[in-house]
Amino acid sequence: MSLLPTIKLKKNKDIPIRAGHPWIFSNAIENCPNLKIGELVKILSYENFELGIGMFNPNNSIRVRVISQNPDEIINQSFFEKRLQNLYEEKAKFLPENTNAFRLAYADSDYLPGLIIDKFDEVFVFQIHTATMDIFRDEIIKSIKKIFNPQAIIERSDVKAREIEGLKMLTPKIHYEKTKSISNNSREKIVEFQENGLKFYADLINGQKTGFFLDQREARKRTFELAKNKNVLNLFCYTGAFSVYAAKGGAKSVCSIDISEKALNLAKENFKLNNLKLENGKYEFIKTDVFQFVSSQNFDLIICDPPALTKSGTNIKNALKAYTDLNQKCLEILNKNGILITSSCSGRITENDFKHALKIAGFKAKKDLKILNVLGASFDHTEKLSFPEGKYLKTLILGT
Ligand SMILES: C[S@@+](CC[C@H](N)C(=O)[O-])C[C@H]1O[C@@H](n2cnc3c(N)ncnc32)[C@H](O)[C@@H]1O
Repeated sequence: MSLLPTIKLKKNKDIPIRAGHPWIFSNAIENCPNLKIGELVKILSYENFELGIGMFNPNNSIRVRVISQNPDEIINQSFFEKRLQNLYEEKAKFLPENTNAFRLAYADSDYLPGLIIDKFDEVFVFQIHTATMDIFRDEIIKSIKKIFNPQAIIERSDVKAREIEGLKMLTPKIHYEKTKSISNNSREKIVEFQENGLKFYADLINGQKTGFFLDQREARKRTFELAKNKNVLNLFCYTGAFSVYAAKGGAKSVCSIDISEKALNLAKENFKLNNLKLENGKYEFIKTDVFQFVSSQNFDLIICDPPALTKSGTNIKNALKAYTDLNQKCLEILNKNGILITSSCSGRITENDFKHALKIAGFKAKKDLKILNVLGASFDHTEKLSFPEGKYLKTLILGT
């Protein structure tokens, strides 16, 4: 039995929690004692039923986040060991063949609020953006070490989301390294891993987010299937993952564009890693701002995966216009019978909003668009029906 302080919910506010929604907003709480930032609490319904264990933070309007639906759960190292072991077993069995990188823990959607863990072969990268997980950092690191016997454990808590919880952004840190085999330069950790049989490098210290966008695995596989004999344009290419899939899928040419020189350099390395010869003139890498880019040629397949064009609820209208303009631009340089693979990773923009923005883009570009596929983040980025707020990525594959 845990002796945690309790918070009591208002009448009927237990229903979403019982259904699996992990958030309790301040206005759902009937009463709550004086608690410290990050303190664990037992959650009670209005009728005093014990609903589970939560993580409290007075700085956040999401006042409590559920970490366990078992009210007697003790949150300690053995809790993290069990949870990570279970997540590994649940997710590893669904991974495609020849894939050794995936999202082991996806925060609130996996009942580990504010904790993301990505596995790249034998290297683990984690990110913390809640006060409670900050308190349990040592237990998290020790659990990863004990269960997985990894090559290295890296923290990438250099994220603005921490500020909502009253936490500072942290510089990337290597917490553990078995041997200095990955690289002996502590300012750079390049790791090699496999996805659907293709090989990639990710820079786990300097790369964006945790180093690689594992969430687009399914869209990349579709790209491989659709690229044969096509002239392909990959906008916002980052380290060229979509481009490598297109080239390996038999594309006639692949043009990759990003604003980051570092990303493009790694993209070139990723081509070489997959035995794609850069000298043959089929592959082009352009460093430029996509929003200023003017193309002199048309393409058969265009991939458009921009960074989130809004992170708050306030500028949704402007973001939708930006998605419309950007996709109109893509459609204007898409050949007849061409295919557009287009994404929005803005959590505040719903799939319907995005489809509406694309409908307008099609209308303006005089293209009658047909939906060939609607994809989300790959399955390891757990999507719960009871928690639609956990869904952020929408990818539409459109035929013209
Ligand atoms: C969401 S990531 C793309 C991920 C990529 N599709 C993948 O699967 O790895 C967004 C990328 O857009 C780039 N970027 C951001 N703003 C840009 C701009 N205005 N023009 C060109 N690239 C930009 C970033 O450098 C980053 O690499």
